[in-house]
Amino acid sequence: MSPKPWFVVITGASSGFGRAMARGLLTRAGLAPAGSTFLLVARSTEQLAQTKTLMEESGIEANVSLLSADLSDLGAISQKVVPRMAEMLAAAGDVFGRVMLVNNAGSLGNISDRIDKAGACPDTLQSYFNLNLTGVITLTCGALLSAEASADKLLVLLRDSKFESGSHHDYYDLPEPTF
Ligand SMILES: NC(=O)c1ccc[n+]([C@@H]2O[C@H](COP(=O)([O-])OP(=O)(O)OC[C@H]3O[C@@H](n4cnc5c(N)ncnc54)[C@H](OP(=O)(O)O)[C@@H]3O)[C@@H](O)[C@H]2O)c1
Repeated sequence: MSPKPWFVVITGASSGFGRAMARGLLTRAGLAPAGSTFLLVARSTEQLAQTKTLMEESGIEANVSLLSADLSDLGAISQKVVPRMAEMLAAAGDVFGRVMLVNNAGSLGNISDRIDKAGACPDTLQSYFNLNLTGVITLTCGALLSAEASADKLLVLLRDSKFESGSHHDYYDLPEPTF
């Protein structure tokens, strides 16, 4: 019996590590099976579309949806990203064997600017914390709640306190992975 497809949400999928993760999950044997569904999130629609093209070039079947959202905006996360995830999961019923959220989007921003001006510009500091911390929690909670009804498996990758991608893994009702 072929493995059930996955539902994968990757933030910051428009470049760098997030883009590599989108391609790698699809193309590396034993990871997301053919026919999996991806929701790729970042601000740049054009760059997200390039990631989609690269995934298509692999020749492996996948349903790839793109969502432009500013993840330093908590309203965008709760009113746009979480509802889209919930919608896609609800529409699919129980077809997915795994739901995976890759919390990858992040930025250290302009550190000197932050040190020089943070006191005078609380919005900059707030936006930094929203993107790197509060937004990640909001998105993770949303994914957990959305996945509850349709899948009992969720893997969340978070940056650790040094903001290194993928260095912290949380497994919800999953066996230890083999990769
Ligand atoms: N590369 C490294 O050596 C390194 C080392 C330690 C940690 N990290 C961490 O690893 C993660 C990925 O790094 P990377 O090197 O792949 O960086 P990158 O190429 O700059 O990618 C960052 C991704 O995050 C997205 N992003 C940034 N701000 C966003 C926002 N406000 N809303 C939505 N998406 C946003 C960007 O997309 P848009 O610009 O299109 O929105 C992009 O897709 C980051 O969290 C970074 O801090 C990287």
